[in-house]
Amino acid sequence: MAIELSVNGKSVSVNAEADTPLLWVLRDDIGLPGTKFGCGQALCGACTVHLDGAAVRSCQTPLSAVAGKKVTTIEAMAADAVGKRVQAAWIAHDVPQCGYCQSGQIMSAVALLRDKPKPTDTDIDNAMSGNICRCGTYPRIRAAIHTAAKGA
Ligand code: FES
Ligand code: FES
Repeated sequence: MAIELSVNGKSVSVNAEADTPLLWVLRDDIGLPGTKFGCGQALCGACTVHLDGAAVRSCQTPLSAVAGKKVTTIEAMAADAVGKRVQAAWIAHDVPQCGYCQSGQIMSAVALLRDKPKPTDTDIDNAMSGNICRCGTYPRIRAAIHTAAKGA
């Protein structure tokens, strides 16, 4: 069935089953591969995108749940005021190692900074606890979020 979505500010019509995970729609139907598959069970955060501004796990979000809502992915962050600050801070702190988890980390960090422009360490730990990094970049992620917050 055809479902209308708004992805990164553009209207898109997708022909897929209503229970198809948003992650696969983004990657395979719309051609946005920046959002990653990690666990497929809402446990790792690699697939994090924004739905009406809130961080969600796209691997466990069915297509039917996003009709009429605004989906934003990592591909839109370079043109987003908070996204730009976060990406600059990520570069300044040399955050990524293998990089696999990082688009999800950035999407969670941007959602946090929109909600709490000056987060404490506890705010950061709470907001980022669902984003797993096998390379252990957590200290640099925390430092980069503080740097991004200073630019607010
Ligand atoms: S792939 Fe979605 S949370 Fe791991
Ligand atoms: S940078 Fe390698 S998993 Fe996070």
